[in-house]
Amino acid sequence: MPKLLIRDLRQVVSPASGEAPLRGGALAELDQVDAGYVLCDGATIEAVGRMADLAPLDGDVAEVDGAGLCAIPGLVDCHTHPAFGGDRVEEFSLRAGGASYEELHAAGGGILATVRATREAGEEGLRRAVERHRGWMLRAGTTTFEGKSGYGLDCETELASLRAIAAAGGVPTFLGAHSTPPEAEDADAYLDFLLADVLPEAARLAEAADVFLERGAFDAAQGRRYLEACREYGLSLRLHGDQFTEAGAIPLAIELGARSVDHLEATGPEGMAALARSGVTGVLLPASALFLDRPMPPGRALVDAGAAVALATDFNPGSCFCESLPVVMSLAATQLKLSPAEALAACTVNAAHVLGRADRIGRIAPGYAADLVLLDAPDWRYAAYHLAGDVVATVIKDGAVAAGRAAY
Ligand code: NIG
Ligand code: FE
Repeated sequence: MPKLLIRDLRQVVSPASGEAPLRGGALAELDQVDAGYVLCDGATIEAVGRMADLAPLDGDVAEVDGAGLCAIPGLVDCHTHPAFGGDRVEEFSLRAGGASYEELHAAGGGILATVRATREAGEEGLRRAVERHRGWMLRAGTTTFEGKSGYGLDCETELASLRAIAAAGGVPTFLGAHSTPPEAEDADAYLDFLLADVLPEAARLAEAADVFLERGAFDAAQGRRYLEACREYGLSLRLHGDQFTEAGAIPLAIELGARSVDHLEATGPEGMAALARSGVTGVLLPASALFLDRPMPPGRALVDAGAAVALATDFNPGSCFCESLPVVMSLAATQLKLSPAEALAACTVNAAHVLGRADRIGRIAPGYAADLVLLDAPDWRYAAYHLAGDVVATVIKDGAVAAGRAAY
């Protein structure tokens, strides 16, 4: 593979430190090079600097003209649910008419409607679905994505979901404890089955386990049982917590040493203070709160309290049919009151930390993965400023153009 030089970039912008997770003031610290270049050697960044300092290059070097473009790190979506069949457009219309997400869930719609469609899709159908969703994410600037199972809730479909996510290049998370399927007697009986029959195989395919800790889903005792069993199998731990109610997700996440607790729309001052003192990252999903017309998570207060925060989409068919991290960055700025710099670090280096990859992805610096987004904008902050705008010009993944309009 020849080297790749992206030349004449208007701005090259990256979180300044890789000491993840970045907290407090460090979250806003960026390195910025104006009139710069990025040189990639295969899948790795070799050098970053000012055009004026670029020495002549020997050998085979392909070039991308970065004139008028700004480079930011490839975005990292650390929370998505891409393995599903069907859609929830009917439910979306009902919600527009006033039905609530929790009511629809309790009536056997919601997640369980997607479970039915996902079981029907079959492994091939699921692979095609995840591949399509991966393409949407890539075109929006996401070069690394995590994907959860959780719409199968039987052995075959949970494992097929994890395989489909891995086949599309995603980081697979086992979310067997997403909901209790109709054939199970109750949540405890379902967990018995999950831990005995699904977890041993799922643990070979997944890197992490996740649980939906919420009224109407799983309670803290059930969450603990599931997560402790998953930890025994070597999986790192994540939780969906405080989406509608505070059901004990933050204390459990801290006690078990989880990587993250995600959502936090309902988190109060005590939970915030506890999270801030801990090593657990809070993953904020403002597009999901917007899509469900729910309160926003307390992003500004969490950062000011010293908590580690990341941003993600929560892409899924029910609570957030949105794959765009630039839209999430806009919402982080307008709704969570994070600066564009904080938002960028939260969906690059801190999101990479949640996935255990902050030593290799999330920054534009020598030795990091050659994953970049080139923005067609006079200033990199247009990524957040131009709400749902057409700012992502080109996406570079592993040192090659993966999406967009740049020509060599
Ligand atoms: O993160 N909250 C639970 N799970 C997903 C939504 C799943 C669905 O509605 O299909 C979430 O929002
Ligand atoms: Fe989610």
